Amino acid sequence: MLTRYSFSNLIRFNKKGIMNASFGQNRGGYNPVQKNNLIHFQPQLLKINLQCEHFKNVDFTQYDFIYLDPPYFNSGAIYNTKGFGGQTWSVQDDINLFNKLDNAHVPFALSNLIQHKSATNTKLLEWVNDNNYKMHIIGSDYNSCIYTTRIPNEPTVEVCITNY
Ligand SMILES: C[S@@+](CC[C@H](N)C(=O)[O-])C[C@H]1O[C@@H](n2cnc3c(N)ncnc32)[C@H](O)[C@@H]1O
Repeated sequence: MLTRYSFSNLIRFNKKGIMNASFGQNRGGYNPVQKNNLIHFQPQLLKINLQCEHFKNVDFTQYDFIYLDPPYFNSGAIYNTKGFGGQTWSVQDDINLFNKLDNAHVPFALSNLIQHKSATNTKLLEWVNDNNYKMHIIGSDYNSCIYTTRIPNEPTVEVCITNY
């Protein structure tokens, strides 16, 4: 319910852990379709073990499929500048995450931005090429995203990397 009524459907907390998202008058909202979705989704949540952890503390098993949506270090997203648990996401975090995936030996899919504005994620490109992973280009322009701006000729290129 908080996301439904928050600006851009994003909840946000300050350093004291208090929610401080703006009210989403136009972009947020709650309607009968969303109510129905929530009612059907709620029982599924009871089967899920949700954890909020630094990725270095998460272990994988041979039976896992891993989907990752880590911070895009070349975007201006809030978790890049203000951090997660007090730590800001860096290129070194990308590298550590890539190494962890290389060593996991399980199928994975990872979302990221190869290019955003004029910044290219060269480490991501190197990692994909060095390991012969597959790079799928996603047709998303992020024009409605609150932390990006539309700049002609400086495209945002979203990708999904898979090892299968
Ligand atoms: C691109 S967003 C993913 C958003 C998510 N797919 C969703 O729909 O809510 C990246 C997420 O990574 C989290 N994050 C940042 N640093 C992290 C870390 N060291 N370990 C695990 N997660 C981290 C951020 O808090 C943020 O929620």
